Amino acid sequence: MKLLVTGGAGFIGSNFVRYFLKTHPASSILNLDKLTYAGNLENLAELHTAPNYRFVRGDIADAALIDQLLEDRFDAIVHFAAETHVDRSIAGAREFVQTNVLGTYTLLDAARRRQVPRFLHVGTDEVYGSMKPGEFANEGSTLEPNSPYAASKAGADLLARSFWQTYRYPVLTTRCSNNYGPYQFPEKLIPLMIANALEGKKLPVYGDGLNERDWIFVEDHCRALDRVLENGRPGEVYNVGYGQPVANLEIIRRLLRLLDRSDELIEYVKDRPGHDRRYALSTDRLRRELGWNPAVDIEEGLKRTVDWYRGHADWMARVRGGEYQAYYEKHYTRRGEFLTEL
Ligand code: NAD
Ligand code: TYD
Repeated sequence: MKLLVTGGAGFIGSNFVRYFLKTHPASSILNLDKLTYAGNLENLAELHTAPNYRFVRGDIADAALIDQLLEDRFDAIVHFAAETHVDRSIAGAREFVQTNVLGTYTLLDAARRRQVPRFLHVGTDEVYGSMKPGEFANEGSTLEPNSPYAASKAGADLLARSFWQTYRYPVLTTRCSNNYGPYQFPEKLIPLMIANALEGKKLPVYGDGLNERDWIFVEDHCRALDRVLENGRPGEVYNVGYGQPVANLEIIRRLLRLLDRSDELIEYVKDRPGHDRRYALSTDRLRRELGWNPAVDIEEGLKRTVDWYRGHADWMARVRGGEYQAYYEKHYTRRGEFLTEL
């Protein structure tokens, strides 16, 4: 398979690119990423000279660029690129609407015109909004996004749906719960707590810390995406999640135990406005139709994650210090070629 991946320099995208090329060595990937603050090419350092991988820096909302890239024939587009952090969307959501809505539209439109045979749109469970205790969203549940981030992702989901309904353009949508694992940017809960704890800093817990998320190890998400890409039904939505919501405080306490640090580092801070209480979803469709099951439970996943961050202190220091943003200029020519290839 020849894939165009968007947002492949981010957390899940980089894990997916690595996973996909490892499990499908005859495939090739073109990674298109704007390299916002969240994009870190160092995440894919070992692939820059691989013959079946290429990187292009660019914006998914740039229609001329997308059209030019699609002159090359791809078997599918896997679309990760997005603004993703809820707190940033609360501070201001223009970029979220621009990339998540307009960017997704630009890609869908070009892909339909160029007849790219499959389009996998990577979505989030946050579009369903907060679930009551005991309640689980299925793919038919109403969309009730509560943060500007979730609203912009819901906009993207609805555009994807309309391209199937109107044009029969074969879009597949996934809606996954909170991911964690290697290479996650330390603005998100788990890597932020690990980084702070390792530095002896306080761990800021929003509100009472009892908000629940259905944490899934990023590799399990990548395997689900692979299944949906290969065997999912066009026009269909597939929920992806571990299936067991856990309170933030429990996650933080487990991390502190793994890191051998005291619970006294926990600091309760002002709650996030509009903070969703509980995300929970049913993944029956994915399990039943595509035979997918998560392989990594929270205990193993958190241990692997903590071990990874402990073993990658340099990566974390460069991300926290901002040096990672110079990686592209340092290693790529102005024409976008990797320097060691010249
Ligand atoms: P991330 O923030 O780590 O990475 C996003 C990537 O997209 C970055 O590399 C960034 O440079 C790139 N990007 C942003 N705007 C762009 C643009 N206009 N053009 C090209 N590239 C652009 O995000 P992530 O956590 O890896 O999430 C990836 C996708 O998965 C997103 O669509 C997100 O909504 C979805 N998702 C994430 C989670 C999660 O827990 N992280 C859960 C479910 C779904
Ligand atoms: P986050 O990783 O931002 O993901 P999302 O908001 O998309 O679910 O946050 C996960 C949970 O952790 C969420 O309930 C907010 C909470 N949280 C904190 O308590 N403190 C923090 O510093 C952060 C970043 C998140």
